[in-house]
Amino acid sequence: MRYPENFITELVERSDIVDVVSGYVRLGKKSGSNMFGLCPFHSEKTPSFSVSPDKQIYHCFGCGKGGGVINFIMEIENLSFPEAVEFLARRAGMPVPEEENDAESRKRARMLALNRDAARFFYEQLSSPGGQAARDYMAKRRIGPVTAKNFGLGFAPDSWDSLRKAMRAKGYTDFEMADAGLLRKRENTGFYDTFRNRLMFPVIDVRGNVIGFSGRILGDGEPKYMNSPETLVFNKSRNLFALNLAKKSKCGYIILSEGNIDVVSLHQAGFDSAVASLGTSLTPEQARLLSRYTDQVIIAYDNDGAGQKAAQRAIGILEKLDVKVKVLRMSGAKDPDEFIRLRGADAFRNLLDASENQVDYRLKSVTDKYDLAVDEQKVAFLKEATDLVARLPNGMERQVYAMRVADLAGVARDAVSGEVERRRRRMIRSAQKTTEREQTRPERLIQPDGRALRYEDAASAAAEEGVIRLLSIDASLAKNVPLPDPEDFSAPALGKIYRIIRGRVERGESVDANLLGQDLSADELSLLVRIQQKPEILSRGEQALRDYIKKIEERKDARQQGTDLLALQQKLKETKGYRG
Ligand code: GTP
Ligand code: MN
Repeated sequence: MRYPENFITELVERSDIVDVVSGYVRLGKKSGSNMFGLCPFHSEKTPSFSVSPDKQIYHCFGCGKGGGVINFIMEIENLSFPEAVEFLARRAGMPVPEEENDAESRKRARMLALNRDAARFFYEQLSSPGGQAARDYMAKRRIGPVTAKNFGLGFAPDSWDSLRKAMRAKGYTDFEMADAGLLRKRENTGFYDTFRNRLMFPVIDVRGNVIGFSGRILGDGEPKYMNSPETLVFNKSRNLFALNLAKKSKCGYIILSEGNIDVVSLHQAGFDSAVASLGTSLTPEQARLLSRYTDQVIIAYDNDGAGQKAAQRAIGILEKLDVKVKVLRMSGAKDPDEFIRLRGADAFRNLLDASENQVDYRLKSVTDKYDLAVDEQKVAFLKEATDLVARLPNGMERQVYAMRVADLAGVARDAVSGEVERRRRRMIRSAQKTTEREQTRPERLIQPDGRALRYEDAASAAAEEGVIRLLSIDASLAKNVPLPDPEDFSAPALGKIYRIIRGRVERGESVDANLLGQDLSADELSLLVRIQQKPEILSRGEQALRDYIKKIEERKDARQQGTDLLALQQKLKETKGYRG
């Protein structure tokens, strides 16, 4: 829904960004007017995450994320815009305007209802006469009926339209089913079922909504899995398979594995806290979601190179959220499912108990490098070990491991923990310096940091950013300058941001980043904040605006001619080829 502007403004005013962010990030000393801390959105050891109390925005110079307070809550709490608004309103003690009749939330509710009905349909197929192949496959994988019921497993029949027919009978349209990823469209002949002849795993979020599906082929074949596409209700990188069940576990840790089948087998064997990411490696959003339910994760990935590499990545992401990470070392089986089948649940329990704490593991490999009976080597050991300990984000952990290092080397504990903290302060200081240097280095400012964004026409994009920046600093500059069309922009993302900003300027509305969360995606908002951060000399603002616009027009003409030339060249080539 769209909230009234004055409501959002008041909400932002009552939710001071420094207060809100401080609930998640330890903000350190000011540098200029900004505060700095360790970025909660990417793994880093030195602070490049800045918060501006004046502008009420945040910006990370490392990963490029940025925005206002609402967008911060969306990112860190893993919430949609309305959910984040609600979250902050509750915090500020403000009533939220009613959200009934909103088209998007109606659409969302309808899609969830469709998914639920589809899951029920698949589940029923499992026990129907047509479901024999699936029952055979489940027997082969030793998945029992109770487990199937707990997970709501199902069977998508080997047919082009059985789900489509069943859901149409319930009143859903083809378009609704296609939007939910359940139907696909073929040229000319129309819609057909996405999932056919597959064992179906509904993906259920922590609130119990069926948000998508994952379908495994019965036996060998490609592709092994088909997953729902991203939809209005399904975002792979923000959800985990079986977290709806695992969050209820009493065991105090979560087991992170790779495959759906692994998760199902683990639960069946009594390990009821197993989850899996949805066909991607663990994302920071998923890690944050996990950290809401546990402070300890045991990684039980596949026993191959890819699995071990993915584990290393996951460790980095989890550790900086202060989640304790252990890694399970399996041998003689390729994955937890196979291990349990071959060796049984008790053997797996032993593996869990023996799984190594990551810091222990790394400290052990440092210790093994040196002969601590030799003074020189002892010094080298102390250097490397204190460095390792100083990088641990959690103060308590640093304390514990500093003591361990001191004992290993046979030196005073205070000496080591003092050195650890000194080293850590030094690291933070030097990181802040680097960040400040980078902030003022002009060549870094030309390309945006996000991987997804590469400007095709850097010269035009720089000018497009200039227009956006000037208008968002001083909208009155536009009074005497005719503004270009968004279509003239070379970069689609910049064109979109500009269209929103121009609209607001024309209506005399504020272009504060805090108010744009309803119109821009998180990435677009981050880009806007990045653009606004770059230096701009305002004394000749109007002239600068004209110059930028001129540049945009020049580049547009050049691109146009470029394509004309290319077309001409192509034509010449074809003619020659024809003659020769
Ligand atoms: P098996 O043990 O071989 O039965 O499968 P598994 O459930 O353990 O899955 P596996 O370890 O092979 O793969 C891990 C995860 O990657 C799966 O749960 C899927 O989410 C995803 N995945 C695997 N194969 C494919 C594929 O072909 N396409 C897509 N999109 N995802 C896949
Ligand atoms: Mn597997």
